[in-house]
Amino acid sequence: MKVPKEFTKKYVESNSPKEVHLFRDFLRSGEPYKSLFKNNPWLIPPDYKKPLQFGTGMYWDTTVARKHDYWKDIGLPQATKDIKQMREDIKEWGYCLIEEAMSKRQYKNFEERVLNQGEGEKLAGVEQPTPSGQYVNTLINKGDLFSKCIEQDPKVVQAGPVIEQLVDETLGKGWICHSFLSNGADPGGYPQGMHMDQGPLLPWITEEAPVLFNTMFIPQDIDDKNGGTLIIPGSHKSFIKAGSGGEVGKLPPTVNVEAKAGTIMMFDGRLLHGTGVNKTKKRRIVATMSNVKSWTRTQENWILSVAPDVLEKASPKLLHRLGLQALTYGSTIEGFGLGASGRVGDPWGSIKQFRTAYDNGEYIRVRELDKNSSEKDLKKVYTVRQAMKKAKEAKQEK
Ligand SMILES: [Fe+2]
Repeated sequence: MKVPKEFTKKYVESNSPKEVHLFRDFLRSGEPYKSLFKNNPWLIPPDYKKPLQFGTGMYWDTTVARKHDYWKDIGLPQATKDIKQMREDIKEWGYCLIEEAMSKRQYKNFEERVLNQGEGEKLAGVEQPTPSGQYVNTLINKGDLFSKCIEQDPKVVQAGPVIEQLVDETLGKGWICHSFLSNGADPGGYPQGMHMDQGPLLPWITEEAPVLFNTMFIPQDIDDKNGGTLIIPGSHKSFIKAGSGGEVGKLPPTVNVEAKAGTIMMFDGRLLHGTGVNKTKKRRIVATMSNVKSWTRTQENWILSVAPDVLEKASPKLLHRLGLQALTYGSTIEGFGLGASGRVGDPWGSIKQFRTAYDNGEYIRVRELDKNSSEKDLKKVYTVRQAMKKAKEAKQEK
């Protein structure tokens, strides 16, 4: 049978010059980074093949706010325990600092576990180096305390209820964890390029509120010497002003975040930031846990990566945070989860059972069937059938 010529690859290609591509002007505008770098060339990342330059006014060559000529008299966020102040800081500056968010015992445990894990991963040859230092990824599998951090359990992060409240307000209840990893700034490392964490959504700027909200755990003192995170306070607003696809003008200078061990910085997914330069001889670590709206594809593919024993112990809340609670528009498996509320513990959407079946080599998917299918095929222990049965039973029990 002859395929109509309009459907041939050749025809499609010859009728699809770039200039007619749908929405191209907007989608390929390269904004806001294009204008950001054009109007602020000092924000261009360094050449990682060359030694890092200082004294030329580049973004990594800065200091903490209280010593910075431009910023020192401007009331930037200070570490606080007052949730009302945190809300003001987040709105105005795109971040807040939670004072003593982790107790001394909590941040010491955190620091020790991450540093030891980093060493172990190097020895095992599974470390993940970056131009700045070392990532320790998928912390959830690397110590019980990290699962509890994702749950914002006060046992490991005493400010948990405050964090949870602010993320609920920002992303709406039902948000999930995007990833949780440690970022290292090693002596002699390069700065990270300045970026916004919800960058994958560009050129859309979500003007009214972010769609990603970050919780950065700071288990060591950080400052301008050891690579305190670089930020441009209030930069989220420059993007809001520019709007989706719009151009960004000149931006104020970067500062290094200065914070005591135990602080947690919460920041807007639109805030420009990046790992700073560590000029000391000691490794500096922080750990970032970003959170996203419930339907988003997560950075870390938890569905596959979470260790079976961690999964077995996981509370309904943790399962939910890892995206293992399906809802109509996210994470359904063979349709299981369509129509589910997505609420913590809802049996209609509990997809952990699929992962367990998979781990045990017992996940049976529904394949081609018809009215002449064999008895054997029709009677297979399909995992989706089991899941639906279980959900129905749970509903009846209620
Ligand atoms: Fe980031």
